[in-house]
Amino acid sequence: MIDIKLTKKSFWKNDVEGYVFFVKEGIVPVAGKKDFEILEKEYYPNLKEILKKHKFTGKKCEAFVLTSTKNEKLIQFIFVGLGKLDKAWNYELENLRRAIGSAVLKLKQLEIKDAIFSMPEEGKVFGLIPDKVLKQLVTTAIMADYEFIKFKSEKKDKKEWSGILYIHVEDCDESIFEQALKEGKIIGDATNLTRSFADLPANLLTPKSLALDAKKIADKYGLTYKAFGRKEAEKLGMGGFLAVDSGSDEEGQFVVLEYKAKKDAPTVALVGKGVTFDSGGISLKPSAYMEGMKFDMSGAAAVIGSMKAIAQLKPDVNVVAVTPLVENMPSGKACKQDDIITFLNGKTAEIKNTDAEGRLILADALSYAEKFYNPQVIIDVATLTGACLYALGHFFTAIMTKNEDIGAKLQAVGLVTGDRVWPLPLDDDFRDAIKSEVADIANTGASNYKAGTITAGWFLKNFVDKPKYAHLDIAGTADGVPGISYLGKGATGAGVRLLTEFVLNYNKNK
Ligand code: BES
Ligand code: ZN
Ligand code: ZN
Repeated sequence: MIDIKLTKKSFWKNDVEGYVFFVKEGIVPVAGKKDFEILEKEYYPNLKEILKKHKFTGKKCEAFVLTSTKNEKLIQFIFVGLGKLDKAWNYELENLRRAIGSAVLKLKQLEIKDAIFSMPEEGKVFGLIPDKVLKQLVTTAIMADYEFIKFKSEKKDKKEWSGILYIHVEDCDESIFEQALKEGKIIGDATNLTRSFADLPANLLTPKSLALDAKKIADKYGLTYKAFGRKEAEKLGMGGFLAVDSGSDEEGQFVVLEYKAKKDAPTVALVGKGVTFDSGGISLKPSAYMEGMKFDMSGAAAVIGSMKAIAQLKPDVNVVAVTPLVENMPSGKACKQDDIITFLNGKTAEIKNTDAEGRLILADALSYAEKFYNPQVIIDVATLTGACLYALGHFFTAIMTKNEDIGAKLQAVGLVTGDRVWPLPLDDDFRDAIKSEVADIANTGASNYKAGTITAGWFLKNFVDKPKYAHLDIAGTADGVPGISYLGKGATGAGVRLLTEFVLNYNKNK
């Protein structure tokens, strides 16, 4: 585990094992320039030549270590590349995140017990004021430390690495930086909690067990918790939730968490798809496509993780989280193709494919949120469509909304947090794709319309009437993102940084 602390003590006076330097391409330090000069003068007069010899030039994510001694103890200098630092699209900030990710991986690999790096000193760097940069660095360092190794005997039995990372800050308002440190930690921890849920396979994480975990979080952080299963769903007429739930021996749970700021504050509703395993149901997936379907509850996990962070950070906005948790299985009780179901809001749908199950449970969850909580905004987050992977790949969550304001805000928050979103058009032209001959709508888009991600978005749009609404498809971003140092393997916690930061900013400077 990593711990992160601030230090005002001058850089070289910190008696640590590791000294981290962030450098741009061409070996130009971005922080602690004088300290870098001291390094050159006292340890390596020909530092640049040495680095060049080892082919370290400061490219994005490159990390290189030189060993030396100080006061007769071994010390490590860790150089991390930031690349060219393009100003466009906040790439510079993303490069910094990846650089701190590479640095933390090196600290872990070398089992360095304590290390230090300097915050960039100038005013606005990386497009942000320094304490906001600090917050990003802290969240990212914590994320880089996450690994799902609980079940690897040889790794689990090894003593877990624990290291302290000191951030050297100069002439700053300490309370502002301490606050940024605190917020960064809370968001990093919440993201890792979400990842730890999403990485668990379906035999170890069921609708009931995740509901219980959500309850534990609610009890610990002062959220209201409510959950119900099949019986109550039947009473309420939640035909979408029940259609998916009916096929499994694991009873589903409809979980609602509430954070209350003030009575008269607006409410934001967060809705997350929680399919603990998606076999496809009667429209069974081929084996190769079933791999990784334990991650199909990543939306619900993101919402639950965000609620933990929100409970700790206490924004001036009420937040309700609605997470339908089910397992999508084929059985004698499972819903079938051609079935017609009725949702909580009275609309009907023809089931054309039982593998398009996420939209069925989300339809009831969206209606539920609108009906009982009268939110100003509803955002749902779901591993909804395989098509999303073809449209946007792994690095951007697809956002579909008709509300330009919410769309722009989420996109901006995405760039600042690194939890990036990119819009797909929720245009009226796609609307007829989900027409049905026998019910109000069909649960799959007509094949001649293509654009499966958008037609799924249109299905959901049918279940939100008044609130401002945005749909986030995290099918590509929730897991298996290649090549980003701080995300590692498996679950990424997509949506946590985005939703938490969105909520924190929501009621501010309006
Ligand atoms: N959970 C899947 C979507 C998915 C696929 C997420 C791959 C991550 C990776 C979803 O329930 C699903 O199966 N969607 C179908 C919809 C189709 C039947 C209209 C799909 O995308 O193929
Ligand atoms: Zn499915
Ligand atoms: Zn699914």
